Amino acid sequence: MIKKYIYGQPIETNAVVMDIEAEKDSIQALNEIQTDDGKLFFTYFMENDDIVYGLGEANRGINKRGYIYESFCSDDPLHTEEKRSLYGAHNFIVISGIVNIGIFVDTPSQVQFDIGYTSKNVLKITPSDDNLKIYIIDGTSAYDIVKQFRKMIGRSYIAPKWAFGFQQSRWSYYTEDEIREVVKNYRENHIPLDAVYMDIDYMDGYKDFTVSEERFPNFKDFVQEMRQQGIRLVPIIDAGVKIEEGYDIYEEGKYYQLFCKKADGSDFTAGVWPGRTHFPDFMNTNARNWFGSKYQKLISDGIEGFWNDMNEPAMFYTDDGIKEAVDYIKEFDFDTNDSNKFFELRDKLTGLANRRKDYESFYHNMDGQIVRHDKVHNLYGYYMTRAAGEAFEYINPDKRMLLFSRSSYIGMHRYGGVWTGDNQSWWSHLLLNIKMMPSLNMCGFIYSGADLGGFGSNCTRDLLLRWLAFGIFTPLMRNHTALGTRNQECYNFGDTQEFKNIIAIRYSLIPYLYSEYMKACLNDDMMIKPLSFEYPDDEFAKTVEDQLIIGESIMITPVYQQNAIGRYVYLPEDMLLVRFASPSKRSCCVMHKGIHFISVGLGEVPVFIRKNKLLPLCRSVECIDMLDTSKFEIISYTDREITYTMYEDDGYSKNYDSPDNFVDFAITENDGQLGAVCKKTIVKLSLFQ
Ligand code: NOJ
Repeated sequence: MIKKYIYGQPIETNAVVMDIEAEKDSIQALNEIQTDDGKLFFTYFMENDDIVYGLGEANRGINKRGYIYESFCSDDPLHTEEKRSLYGAHNFIVISGIVNIGIFVDTPSQVQFDIGYTSKNVLKITPSDDNLKIYIIDGTSAYDIVKQFRKMIGRSYIAPKWAFGFQQSRWSYYTEDEIREVVKNYRENHIPLDAVYMDIDYMDGYKDFTVSEERFPNFKDFVQEMRQQGIRLVPIIDAGVKIEEGYDIYEEGKYYQLFCKKADGSDFTAGVWPGRTHFPDFMNTNARNWFGSKYQKLISDGIEGFWNDMNEPAMFYTDDGIKEAVDYIKEFDFDTNDSNKFFELRDKLTGLANRRKDYESFYHNMDGQIVRHDKVHNLYGYYMTRAAGEAFEYINPDKRMLLFSRSSYIGMHRYGGVWTGDNQSWWSHLLLNIKMMPSLNMCGFIYSGADLGGFGSNCTRDLLLRWLAFGIFTPLMRNHTALGTRNQECYNFGDTQEFKNIIAIRYSLIPYLYSEYMKACLNDDMMIKPLSFEYPDDEFAKTVEDQLIIGESIMITPVYQQNAIGRYVYLPEDMLLVRFASPSKRSCCVMHKGIHFISVGLGEVPVFIRKNKLLPLCRSVECIDMLDTSKFEIISYTDREITYTMYEDDGYSKNYDSPDNFVDFAITENDGQLGAVCKKTIVKLSLFQ
């Protein structure tokens, strides 16, 4: 059951699509407290054993207990353990124990979730604005609550099937030839690849929706040339619009008053990659329609996917900030003997980016209602992505486009996916990626993933291999790295065989992964779950945070420590361990419920098939367009008749609910023998009992 409570006059976020009547009584499930100076906050007493799930793209573990988080979309590239905010603001949590309760705090400004940080058993939710909606969801389990929540916020964005292929990125490939070279190396080494990303340097002077004629002289032809090799190009779009006389987007935005404004009515200015920029007012319908229509240009060049970046919005500096710093320096006593003064000077300069003060200094015109930015901060990236998603609907209503964003709020999950921004080539960030995936799924962000190999710092061969071995199971499987780091493409680490094998395993699993992804989207369900969601009565499973359930058939146990030769795993029931060294080179053994050490060589991928489940595999290919889904092999761990419903479609159109898209694989008994059948496919069975 879902109850909705309204406080004051909240700004509509469009996060919730279900019609729910607001309660007349005051909230029962939480203690509502007003401080003497009128500030509102909510508390909940957590039992010792309660687990708190949720918060989507947030730091730390699957169980959020014991820390404090701030929902405030932040451009912070150093995700160290103490950080409270990352790029997303996903205000949904589930407290799960003897009592299960879901809470969604629907407000576009900052919210603090103190989950037993200040006081061990106290959950304290402090919104920065007293105008908000709170949804309370009752349910029989955490999973049940998540499913209700997902119905409430509407169907998740659905990516095209090619976006399940392996993708390579770097900041930046500067020219056509550099991209050709990347593709050539992948193809020559027979490492599968479906997309190459174009980071900011493809543009002319970092101007959105332009392509440098010098570096990409025949862009449309180049897009075609890549398509012929089975490669899609995915350009980045940034939120800030360069201020430059004669640049059409700047001129139009200025003329039609579509940029965010300062209190004096002038266009707000901040420095990002192009230098001084204006920010489109995505909170305004006209501005959204206008900016969205600009994607058309690249689409008509043959582009089928985009990533929206810097949309917290990220600001390196503002004119006001620079002026303050310069004034400060002018006054600074350079002869000072006081080191505190030195640190003050340092902070003045390093603190110029993303200042709260700057977020409080500009305004949106929300279709007539003027709102200060900080009041709606968490919606900015969401509404930029909404602008693109809505535009794609009218540009080509029948075709799926790839779209994902850095900043997000719940509601954006209907328009695009997310990538988790600037992580580092650290083993701890591989683990963070593992723990974050189920939380993102809870909040509706099913098409998601991290920069595999890590964005900042130099990646090592073993880290990339282990990270890819996990990335096989995330819908977005993209290797991306920052300017100045070592080359991170798979062919740059010596012997390529293990990379080729790992990525080939992904391709042979695509029918299953895509099917599980699609079913999760279509049924408002999760594709990637914590163990506790499938084994709710297993007390130990509740504590496991480094193993995940992927879809209905498998459990994964990634290795995330350098030089590890394997790892301990917990099996909540008897399972079949399939150790993949390549799609066809694999060994299988049945393992019993309990804790075991399994060896996992570098380049190996362990997959556990659950009892009475099956895993379909197809032949690996070098890009999705070549995938042959007329022949399958099934691996199953069962001694009885079972079926698996596989979702399959053309991968591009939107006829999702057609019954033809659901194909049953069955393991049936004939003359006392179990065999596999499927209506239209050739099935080879490897059966374990
Ligand atoms: C920040 C993004 O997070 C990163 O992925 C990108 O490479 C840089 N901006 C440059 O565009």
